[in-house]
Amino acid sequence: MTAVTAAAAAAGANHDASPAVIDRTGALSILARCDELAAYSTLPNGLIRRVYLTDEHRAVNALAAGWMREAGMTTWQDPAGNQCGRLEGRTPGLPALLLGSHLDTVPSAGRYDGILGVLTAIAVVDRINTLGIDLPFALEVVAFGDEEGTRFGRALLGSRALAGTFDPAWLDLTDDDGITLRDAYSAFGLDPDALAPATDSALFRGAAARRPEDLVGYLEAHIEQGPYLEEAGQPLGIVSSIAGARRFAITVTGVAGHSGTPFDRRHDALAGAAEIVTLIERTARDAGLIATVGHLEVFPNAVNVIPGRVDLSLDLRAASDSDRDRVWTEIDAAMTALCSARGLTVSVTQTHNAPAVACAPHLRAAVAAGIRAATASPAEPLLLLSRAGHDGMAVADVTDIAMLFIRCRGGVSHHPDEHVTPADVAVATDAFEAAILSLVTAAS
Ligand code: GLV
Ligand code: MN
Ligand code: MN
Repeated sequence: MTAVTAAAAAAGANHDASPAVIDRTGALSILARCDELAAYSTLPNGLIRRVYLTDEHRAVNALAAGWMREAGMTTWQDPAGNQCGRLEGRTPGLPALLLGSHLDTVPSAGRYDGILGVLTAIAVVDRINTLGIDLPFALEVVAFGDEEGTRFGRALLGSRALAGTFDPAWLDLTDDDGITLRDAYSAFGLDPDALAPATDSALFRGAAARRPEDLVGYLEAHIEQGPYLEEAGQPLGIVSSIAGARRFAITVTGVAGHSGTPFDRRHDALAGAAEIVTLIERTARDAGLIATVGHLEVFPNAVNVIPGRVDLSLDLRAASDSDRDRVWTEIDAAMTALCSARGLTVSVTQTHNAPAVACAPHLRAAVAAGIRAATASPAEPLLLLSRAGHDGMAVADVTDIAMLFIRCRGGVSHHPDEHVTPADVAVATDAFEAAILSLVTAAS
């Protein structure tokens, strides 16, 4: 008997999973499903870009719903376009342990960021359903529709809706084609008014929003998106906390003009923006946190015209919100001084603010028990800070969360070269199953 089947027996399983289920929930099937979802993209040549409230979103929700039903779950799409599935516990209507991650992607994405977590969760529910375990709580899988914020520039829209922290002002956000989030919901067949304010309250608990009393917690499996598991030679780790992130849209305005203009007469917005980029890198590096300028647009973007305006993004992350906020204040002041010395103006809009989130000790302990069972190692698993953002940081507003990290090659993510091995996916699925079973045993 393996440690995972022992965990299943302890949780009340009285038989082994059938060969069909072992096949359907094994690493190769999970990876084949990741490949299948990768085909739903708006980019050509095998590149992946799949964003919120699009035909591709609809298609992957339908596929995921089919897999959820095959795993024994009842399914529905919530008012925010999150695909949900539920396996009832020993009596209908019990609070649920949520399992999940996201199905949307960045542009030129890999095929595992978010997706692997959803498919692992479905596979584990499938196994637990087949084993006929007497569950003291329901299990729900949520495939979030928007984690990355690629389309509307505001991350975690799906998980914020679930957590009841969806701000109705976001309905006026627009995508690159000027389509509002409100119109995108309508075009997707969802009622934007189900996400509009029902009261005067600034934050709306819409119909997608869950109540804390209906939840047991939230577990998410995700590729590490960092090099530390690979460096340590470990397939799996536990997340201690998720770094807080703030994002800003910065506009530097100068004066466009002929490229024959002498230097002392110029107000070149791009030269100023370039200094801002290196200022940001230097300041963040010196303070021991991370910052990325990943988007830059130059106007009018012509070879013989001095740039009159530059729009740039800033994504700033730290384990501690106060460190992050202090560094932002420093960057903001230095940026303003630098622009004024060059005769430029700078304006800033904050587009995202997510505080750092600590994983709950009891759920962390369950994930650690799952890893120990699956790896047959008594050693304490590696504890990692997640510098990447995750749906869990929004879900933490409504229930306790914890995360299982899976080694990925070279720590590469948000890139087509994202890679995981079947062996790591196999041990991750066993660990995720054993983590849930340890919560079942504790609650039974
Ligand atoms: C999402 O992957 C993020 O960390 O921005
Ligand atoms: Mn991502
Ligand atoms: Mn992700």
